[in-house]
This record gives sequence, structure tokens and C-alpha cells, in this order.
Amino acid sequence: MTHLVPSPTAEAFRVVPHPAPATAAERAERLSDLRFGTTFTDHMARITWSAGRGWEDRRVEPYGPIPMDPAASVLHYAQEVFEGLKAYRWADGSIHLFRPEANAERLQRSAARLALPELPVEDFLASIHALLELDHAWVPDAPETSLYLRPFLIGTDVFLGLRPSRKVEYLLIASPSGPYFRGGVAPVSIWVERDYHRAGPGGTGAAKCGGNYAAALRPQVEAAQRGFDQVLYLDAATGSVLEELGGMNVFAVRTDGTVLTPIINGNILEGITRASVIALLEDQDLKVIERDISLDELRDGVESGEIAEVFACGTAAIVTPVGRIASTDFEVGTGDQPGPVTLEVRRRLTDIQYGRAEDTYGWMRRAL
Ligand code: PLP
Ligand code: COI
Repeated sequence: MTHLVPSPTAEAFRVVPHPAPATAAERAERLSDLRFGTTFTDHMARITWSAGRGWEDRRVEPYGPIPMDPAASVLHYAQEVFEGLKAYRWADGSIHLFRPEANAERLQRSAARLALPELPVEDFLASIHALLELDHAWVPDAPETSLYLRPFLIGTDVFLGLRPSRKVEYLLIASPSGPYFRGGVAPVSIWVERDYHRAGPGGTGAAKCGGNYAAALRPQVEAAQRGFDQVLYLDAATGSVLEELGGMNVFAVRTDGTVLTPIINGNILEGITRASVIALLEDQDLKVIERDISLDELRDGVESGEIAEVFACGTAAIVTPVGRIASTDFEVGTGDQPGPVTLEVRRRLTDIQYGRAEDTYGWMRRAL
């Protein structure tokens, strides 16, 4: 790759300090009993793009509302993509990121699908460093907590015609977070969705765009009304092949020592946790097979015991066991305790993320 200008670093970001950041006592209060995604740090990073000028005005500014014209394209045509990754506090106080380049590259792929400009990987990484330089005290240190980073791109053109926005904002906000599921590693229940689909061939399933998540809200509400925690989607073309959950990839562990997971097919998100879990499982001499998995195979396998464990994974969810699996015409279960393969891969992953085990994969990046 050639650069017309030197790679931006954290120093390239102009700092507009918060006039009244949280005091240490206020921060400690907000860092106690953390949930997922409810509290935010003092600052946010930002880069502005326009069709004529490209990426410019890198800055870190006080976290707060972003005034926008009511005709801004994101508000009408949902021209938006986002990422999710975490900064982890290690026991020695240092702060580390997990595979951030992979998130930067996925943001580029998502942006390309949504006709948004691709943010250079260097800008993505530098924005995180610039924000952490100011807000590092917000990286929590309690077990299972982290600073969840949410980079996103929005089209801000003031125009109601349908065309890619000529003005775009990149923003990075950060949320000190606890576990996504409050039950710890207790198995969650999933409803297999028959009526609604998340993605279809040629659609945006592989992009991390807000619209995918908006479309998944109603199925999620209906599943919750039936008493289920999450929704598992089937392929739109045949309605018979597993895809993923609303915000997680899925794995099935067979008693013969093989592990199945849906193949990356353009409909599902290419999870970074998914790729990491595959590597971790393979290093435990388990054979991971990426292929189509039919709902019949999952249902019959869990029922017969041939599939001993099912788990979901993602940045927010880490590795979460799945217990009950049901739909309009069946209900099967793997029991109310997480299985050993699920627990072991979760332990290996989080040990690397929190610096408790050596990172032989080269996944971690020290941020501070
Ligand atoms: N699938 C969907 C739809 C997601 O939103 C996520 C979360 O980001 C994942 C899978 C898991 O991806 P990752 O492991 O990169 O967080
Ligand atoms: C993540 O895991 O980072 C996600 O974006 C999933 C979201 C549903 C919280």
C-alpha cells in the first residue's frame, strides 16, 4: 500500500478536552456493577470525510450529541456501518486490544457494501489510541469487564435523493461494559426463526450495518415473548440451513470430536471471535468443519445426543453456551450446564484476551 501522506498516528488527532470530565469518584461509581453498553467515557474520536476532500479533521472531542440536519442521509436511508471490539485491562494495569486490524478491515468491507468510503486501517487504529490516551482510566479492571469500543460511519449528506452520501462522519465511542448476558456462563435459549429472515443472497448479511439489526428487533421481541433469549436465523433461500444469531455466530460440538459451524457464505457476519474459536479448537485437536448445517441435522443431533454442545460467540457475547433450542414444531436441549468444550474454548480465549495466558497467535495489541 502506498501512502500519499504519512500514516496518521494518535498525534494526528487534535484534542478538544472535555470541559468537565467525570471526577474519579463519579467514574468509580459508574464503573461499579457494569452492564453492557449503558455508560460512556468522557470523549469520542471523530474523522470527517467529504467526496471532495477525503478523510480530514481528526479529533478527539467531548462525548455528546452530534447535531445533524434532519435531511441527513443516515436518518432516511440507513447508510451506516459499525464495528465492535474491546480493550482489556491486564493484571499489571496495561491495556490491550484483540485483533483490532481485523475489525478495521471488516469495517472497510462493510463500508464498501453500503457505498460508504473506506476508512484507512491506520486511521481506525490511531483513533482508538487517541481516545484511549485521554480515557484510559475508563478501562475497567473487574473480572469479565472491558471497554467496549464502537466505531461507526454515518452518511450526513443533506439530500433526500437516493445516492451515496457525499459527507460522512466516522465516530468512535467507548463504553465500559460488563457481560452481555447477565446470567454469567449459564446456557441461553434460542428460538429458531421460521417467518423472518435476517439476510438473503446478495443482501447485506455479511456487512455490519445498522439495518440488519433493526430488521432483527421484531423477531427478538417475539422470541422474548415466547420466553427465549436469542433468535437463530435460517437461510432465506431454502429456510432449512442455519445461519447465525442476531449478534453472534453459532457452533455445534459433536460427540465424535468434530465441531460444525456455518460456512462464510456472504449471508453471515465473518466473526472475528468465530475465526479465533476455530483456531483455538483446532489446537485442541478438534476437527472444525465449516459447511452448511441443516436445521434437521441440528435438531436430530441434539435430540439423539450426537451433538453434545451448542454455543454462540461474538465480541459482546464472548462464548455463550446454548441450552434450549426450539421452534414452532420442536424443542430440544443440551442441558442446563455449559459443556466442557464450550467452557474450555471460552477459557482459552479469555485467558489470552486478559493476558492470563501467552498469546501464541499474535492476536493481542498493546494499546497503553
Ligand atoms: N454475527 C453478528 C450478526 C454480529 O453482530 C456479531 C458481533 O459482532 C457476530 C456475529 C460476531 O462477530 P465478532 O466475533 O467479530 O464480534
Ligand atoms: C458485538 O458483539 O460487538 C456486536 O456488535 C453485537 C451487538 C448485538 C452488541
